[in-house]
Amino acid sequence: MATLAYDVEAVRARFSALQTPFAFFDGPGGTQVPDSVIDAIATYLRGSNANVGGPYGTSIRTEALIEQAHVTAGRFLNCDPAGVAFGPNMSTLNFALTRTAARELRRGDEIVVTRLDHDANVSPWLEVAHDLGVVIRFADIREDTSVDLDDLARLLGPRTKVVAFPVAANSVGTLTDVPRIVELAHEAGALAWADAVHYAPHGPIDVEGWGVDVLICSPYKFFGPHMGMSFARPELLERWRPYKVRPAPTDPPGRRFETGTLQHELLAGFVSAVEYIESIGWDAIRAHERALGERFLDGLPDAYARHGLPTMDGRVSTFAFTHAERPPREIATRLGDRGVGVWWGDYYAIEVMKRLALPDGAVRVGIVHYNTEAEVDRLLEALSDF
Ligand SMILES: Cc1ncc(COP(=O)(O)O)c(C=O)c1O
Repeated sequence: MATLAYDVEAVRARFSALQTPFAFFDGPGGTQVPDSVIDAIATYLRGSNANVGGPYGTSIRTEALIEQAHVTAGRFLNCDPAGVAFGPNMSTLNFALTRTAARELRRGDEIVVTRLDHDANVSPWLEVAHDLGVVIRFADIREDTSVDLDDLARLLGPRTKVVAFPVAANSVGTLTDVPRIVELAHEAGALAWADAVHYAPHGPIDVEGWGVDVLICSPYKFFGPHMGMSFARPELLERWRPYKVRPAPTDPPGRRFETGTLQHELLAGFVSAVEYIESIGWDAIRAHERALGERFLDGLPDAYARHGLPTMDGRVSTFAFTHAERPPREIATRLGDRGVGVWWGDYYAIEVMKRLALPDGAVRVGIVHYNTEAEVDRLLEALSDF
């Protein structure tokens, strides 16, 4: 990991996409991609494009790339690469994994999800409930948007089979106490099923240290290409019966969930994205995001109501806010007109918005390590003008 002082302009010089006056605060919907990632994708397509299993150079190199991508994922997630699977996006992988895990569930079994989750970690379980008659329970969040662990603990019982939860909320940026949720799940004999999509660009994922059984994320949220990636403990994958075509590989077990041909060129981009993050280092990323987050929170005009934790403690640098008179859509559109990209609505975090009584959702600002103080100031200035 890099140890040199963080130079945001040097970082931005690595992204052609950032050579524009437009301020990208839309990272939670997908980050920009450094040129090294784009080059890796193009290099694969120019020189190694093939399917696997052919007795010649391009195919052999493709197999080596697939192996390298799994090893890289193991490093990025701090997990056994044997449990890694790549797929189109988190939602698709989660539908596949939940449906497979559900082959072990029986009518009346229980799944706990949280009201902090993105719907991609909720609806797959609702569909399982529809098909099999399992019961879905929602762990509540407190006023400050942290998961109510007492409520979660109350929902656990002898029939709880899975506790599904986010590592960080894509709506309000709140972090969860992952080790504690894992502990509660395991005490109940349930699997701990983590959605790390929103957290992944903000800090190191630690599958081993956290003890999660399943964890899913999406490289396009952390400076890579549009694709998804999952980990599940190899023992589980070996036990579960996968939906797969018969001739496809079964080992390592993660591969059982890679139905059909992988997006080889995107795997090359993924490897490059991880190398990009490693070249900067999480300490630098976190320190920069924290400083910009504090700047944003300190400068947000009083006319806006903040939703979520009031300081940078216990959160990542994703912020949701509303204005008493102006709907979120109008604020986001006006900001877009002024060259500032933010989101508005519920961003599929529908339970959070219901819980916060925000039928129109909120404006969302997502700060990542390539954003600058000047961009935050422009955003704040524009917000105080409206
Ligand atoms: C927290 C969270 N989970 C899941 C998803 C779904 O990810 P994907 O688009 O890879 O299916 C998103 C996407 O925004 C997200 O923010």
